[in-house]
Amino acid sequence: MSERLEDIARAMVAPGKGILAADESSGTIKKRFDKINLTSTEDARRDYREMLFRSTDAMKNYVSGVILYDETIRQKAKDGTPLVDIMKAAGSIPGIKVDTGAKPLAGPTAKIETVTEGLDGLRERLADYYKLGARFAKWRAVITIADGCPTWNCVKANAHALARYAALCQEAGIVPIVEPEVLMDGEHSHHDIDECARVTEWTLRAVFRELYDARVNLEGMVLKPNMVIAGQKCAKQASAQDVAERTIKVLKATVPSSVPGIAFLSGGQSDEAATEHLSLMNAIGNLPWALTFSYVRALQAAALQAWGGKSENVAAGQRAFAHRARMNGLAALGKWDKKLEKAA
Ligand code: 13P
Repeated sequence: MSERLEDIARAMVAPGKGILAADESSGTIKKRFDKINLTSTEDARRDYREMLFRSTDAMKNYVSGVILYDETIRQKAKDGTPLVDIMKAAGSIPGIKVDTGAKPLAGPTAKIETVTEGLDGLRERLADYYKLGARFAKWRAVITIADGCPTWNCVKANAHALARYAALCQEAGIVPIVEPEVLMDGEHSHHDIDECARVTEWTLRAVFRELYDARVNLEGMVLKPNMVIAGQKCAKQASAQDVAERTIKVLKATVPSSVPGIAFLSGGQSDEAATEHLSLMNAIGNLPWALTFSYVRALQAAALQAWGGKSENVAAGQRAFAHRARMNGLAALGKWDKKLEKAA
């Protein structure tokens, strides 16, 4: 495969394919395993991820790349094959989460707002990850809607860190996934779709301004934003068509057409909603960028349930994963249909 940033970025958003985010930190994967009463050991985490990466047809047809966590990029399958080699054999590009988490932003909003850390030593870590096979990376910034939030201080600090991260990635020959996430699970009851549109537009403008200042090559990156959607606690929910149209409107106003692709996070939407929204957006058509998925929860939740931590359920887990991968692959082409969910 070509090693040019532009080619890698385009391959990540190839037609009908998207990204499997499997970069849950040890803390997050423990929470997910708790729900199926499974102790989060190194072997359990390996078995779970090995099950996903060995879903060969799903990986080949619908998954362009996988975002890994530090432990996983170094881990071997039960038979000793590096997990990275398994996904590469299926034609998927290995990626790596490189931020070290969202930490309270010092100041008056420290109880609500965070700034994502991980810039110290990042140049050296990227060189190491490149040797381990990573050709793209991810950094997630978190923006929270609440009374008086987000503050400009928070938007600016996170946008600046994203740009410094993206520039370091490109220097290392690694495509940055730039992920500014406006959370949909805030406490704020007035957090309707208009508020999400306003904050998402503000955030994306700040991010692209910082990317420009840092001289990031937009053709060699992928944007991973939230969809424009009402907060989960808001009584006024928007229709799926509204979510699709409002999201496209904000993206058209803020994302230069030189960016090859946009791969959404699912953010707590139901599996089917995340798929439907993506499909409706692609059905609008005439877009300057590829629009696809980079989901954790909306790709994995069903597979995790079906597996339940039991080796006898590996095939069932893989079937559940393959189904969601196929549904989202179709959504990336604007060709998903609810009937396909029922048929399965
Ligand atoms: P969700 O799809 O579960 O929101 O996760 C995406 C992700 O990678 C968050 O950083």
